[in-house]
Amino acid sequence: ALKIATIGGGSSYTPELIEGYIKRKDELPIKEIWLVDIEAGKEKLETVGAMAKRMVKAAGLDWEVHLTLDRRAALKDADFVSTQFRVGLLDARIKDERIPLSHGVLGQETNGAGGMFKAFRTIPVILAIIEDMKELCPDAWLVNFTNPAGMVTEAAIKHGGWKKTAGLCNVPIGHRKQAAEKLGIPEDDLFFKFAGINHFHWHRVWDKQGTERTQELIDLIYGPQEDSESHLKNIHNAPFHYEQIKDLRMLPCGYHRYYYIEDEMLKHSIEEFEKGETRAQVVKETEARLFELYKDPNLDYKPKELEERGGTHYSDAACELIASIHNDKRTDMVVSTENNGTITDLPYDCVVEVSGPVTAHGHEPYNWGAFPPAARGIIQVMKGMEETVIRAAMDGDYGAALHAFTINPLVPGGAMAKTLLDELLIAHKDHLPNF
Ligand code: NAD
Ligand code: G6P
Ligand code: MN
Repeated sequence: ALKIATIGGGSSYTPELIEGYIKRKDELPIKEIWLVDIEAGKEKLETVGAMAKRMVKAAGLDWEVHLTLDRRAALKDADFVSTQFRVGLLDARIKDERIPLSHGVLGQETNGAGGMFKAFRTIPVILAIIEDMKELCPDAWLVNFTNPAGMVTEAAIKHGGWKKTAGLCNVPIGHRKQAAEKLGIPEDDLFFKFAGINHFHWHRVWDKQGTERTQELIDLIYGPQEDSESHLKNIHNAPFHYEQIKDLRMLPCGYHRYYYIEDEMLKHSIEEFEKGETRAQVVKETEARLFELYKDPNLDYKPKELEERGGTHYSDAACELIASIHNDKRTDMVVSTENNGTITDLPYDCVVEVSGPVTAHGHEPYNWGAFPPAARGIIQVMKGMEETVIRAAMDGDYGAALHAFTINPLVPGGAMAKTLLDELLIAHKDHLPNF
């Protein structure tokens, strides 16, 4: 029987997870689900936790759902620990987005200055969770969903030493569905290979006959006659430059917009900023509406409104990964995992986001090899930036933090890097014990 603990259980995404477990009830012999949160999230935990209990009951299941602020009690003898916490909650995200934008620089929750600060706040917490896990559930799998998922997963595997960590994101799932829809071919009849790092990966697609369909998809999705399509609620739908994507010979992920058409995305973000409608501000209202719905004692299923959040369908990643490990299903999934030579352009011991089957012993990535030069350069910069962010987060090292800001492609100029870093350090000081 399985015990699953979810850290950040008060998240509005929890019904998404519960729905995913219920869908897989025949594959997952769940006994206990523990939802853990902190004092600041207590009310959210109670509301969404009651909703989770109703969902389980409505499905006719006898799973125990425990709500607690005691992380150690939740971790004790857990088989799977999933993480979906946000240090500082949405108010911290508002600062991550608005402070850079107030200087005319992109502010985004996982990219640029905001993403680096989310990492600074989160990495010490994930490492503390791992210290507890070493003592309380040494055989558990850590399923990390907490952003910036790539850097947090790398910190867990490389620095926390928790090899049984899988980092997840819903973006690849969306791209798979998009390809199937555009080609009019069922998703399971297509073969996908994704490679890169979290929120910065590319993919190629083949059909059952072995024919590569990547260029055709580029035409269908980004061709001159097409409207550009971002299937992500949280990313503005600015069009990529078709000729450039065609030259790439791989499909970009939605987040590449921030790098390939940074100026367009910045322009749009500044407009949102001026209206007081940055994504975090919009999400805060969506979240409030969701929690009003969750309070309804008759609601016992995931409401449609949750699709307004960018992370919708993430249980297709988290719950499927757990089912695939537990049953050695070998489901082909995209996971943030140790590189080990999968991508030859990046260090062996770093974390990459790549395709492969999920076995009982974890993810087994398909070999990818090298990127074309135009992708190689930027991904090496991005990975070096991530490694520097992790070092800064762990050591509270100002010089390393400034260096990461300086080389991050979304932060223009050394003087601006320092200005932003200093302002964000003050704004977030309560959540940065290492600095
Ligand atoms: P949220 O603001 O609702 O936070 C979730 C919960 O975490 C809150 O209830 C909060 O109190 C709690 N929390 C904060 N610090 C904690 C700590 N130290 N220990 C335990 N709980 C703590 O966040 P959200 O919008 O639901 O997102 C949750 C997380 O999942 C974020 O990090 C977000 O970036 C991430 N996310 C990832 C993906 C993905 O693709 N990997 C998709 C969506 C969301
Ligand atoms: C996408 C990304 C997540 C991110 C989310 C933001 O799903 O994969 O990593 O957290 O969008 O969505 P939000 O609704 O919070 O803006
Ligand atoms: Mn993601």
